[in-house]
Amino acid sequence: MMQNIKLGILASHYGSNLQAILDACDLGEIQAEVSVVISNNSNSMALKRSNKKNIPGFHISNHTHPNFLLQDKEIKKILKKHKVNLVILAGYMKKLGPEVLKYFHKKIINIHPSLLPKYGGKGMYGANVHREVIKSNEKFTGISIHIVEEEYDSGPIIAQIKISIDKNDNVDSLNKKVSSIEHKFYVKTIQEIISGKINLNNL
Ligand code: GAR
Repeated sequence: MMQNIKLGILASHYGSNLQAILDACDLGEIQAEVSVVISNNSNSMALKRSNKKNIPGFHISNHTHPNFLLQDKEIKKILKKHKVNLVILAGYMKKLGPEVLKYFHKKIINIHPSLLPKYGGKGMYGANVHREVIKSNEKFTGISIHIVEEEYDSGPIIAQIKISIDKNDNVDSLNKKVSSIEHKFYVKTIQEIISGKINLNNL
């Protein structure tokens, strides 16, 4: 069991996964607290959600820090200052820099709405993923949770769920199906990491 876990969450847009994690922390389904939220998007719902809960929220982007390495340093500084020991990407559409990746080695996780390594990489997020999956006539899609490395959607897989695609499914219906499962799956997996059932160092 990891003790006194403080989560730092990075999210770019809507933040429905962030909300699911906030709710799960309130309910004790995740035995941790969210100590900070960072977004590259100053208008994101994600930052509104953290505001509403009085959780410190920060906007770090090319606008605040035109230099990527300074962005990286600032993100690391904020996470350290808020005593974060597990970093959660929840719909964060940017790469992380070398300092954050090194300091939080094997302590950063991401969720992606496909069966990685299929349908991952730059530009592959949200509806774009589902569009490609439908176009390719896949019978299954899924959700992957993985340790974050330098490249988009890369790094050791922690957990995956397979979801079947019906004949009538379209981008919209698949999106709805996948996101409702995503929230529960992310919450469950985060708690399994905290409880020690999953050990990221062994991956
Ligand atoms: C989620 O479907 C998440 O899996 C995906 O972005 C969406 C964010 O939704 N992430 C990726 O595609 C990462 N490559 P949310 O903002 O409502 O949580």
